[in-house]
Amino acid sequence: MAKQMWKPGTLLCPVPVVMVSCKNKEGMNNIITVAWTGIVCSDPAMLYVSIRPERLSYNIIKDTKSFVVNMPNSGLAYAVDFCGVKSGREINKFEHLGLTLQKSNLVDVPSIAECPVNLECRVRDIISLGSHDMFIAEILCVNVEEKLLDKSGKLHLDKADLICYNHGEYSALSESLGHFGFSVRKKVKR
Ligand SMILES: Cc1cc2nc3c(=O)[nH]c(=O)nc-3n(C[C@H](O)[C@H](O)[C@H](O)COP(=O)(O)O)c2cc1C
Repeated sequence: MAKQMWKPGTLLCPVPVVMVSCKNKEGMNNIITVAWTGIVCSDPAMLYVSIRPERLSYNIIKDTKSFVVNMPNSGLAYAVDFCGVKSGREINKFEHLGLTLQKSNLVDVPSIAECPVNLECRVRDIISLGSHDMFIAEILCVNVEEKLLDKSGKLHLDKADLICYNHGEYSALSESLGHFGFSVRKKVKR
């Protein structure tokens, strides 16, 4: 298979795309869209968000050490893009998009009610990498929409209609290709 060698680039795809909410010490709420994010530790549950210092949200999160990662569904694709191209310096993104502020449980930052899952986070460490600083944060609690739970309390995240970011495009996660461990699962004899 013929391949071209390119210069280094951020071509690890697809990646999550999330709406990170934050609140400054004066009580102003903001949302920044972030694609450079991921889980970095299982126990304690930790994630990172990498943010450029010139973003309004950067100083807010650096000052307060708190933020919420809100996981959007496909109905929020417009809002995801808007929060990624407009700064809170110009516009109140919650108000403009008609998004609902939902009180969080453990951080003084509102969650976005319309997002089916919200991860409340506290910053543990900030690492300067170059264009972006990486905020490593502990996930203090996870809030999941009740309609995604079955009677036994099991979470069906496939029903959440979550989206990802794939080389400049927002994509829905429509088709399941198998579940964790399916490649080694013993076949049931009938
Ligand atoms: C799909 C998408 C992903 C983005 N990912 C990041 C990111 O990971 N880090 C970052 O600093 N900015 C990212 N941005 C840009 C910010 O979301 C954008 O500059 C935003 O307007 C900053 O808002 P603020 O100034 O209110 O904080 C992304 C934008 C889009 C559209």
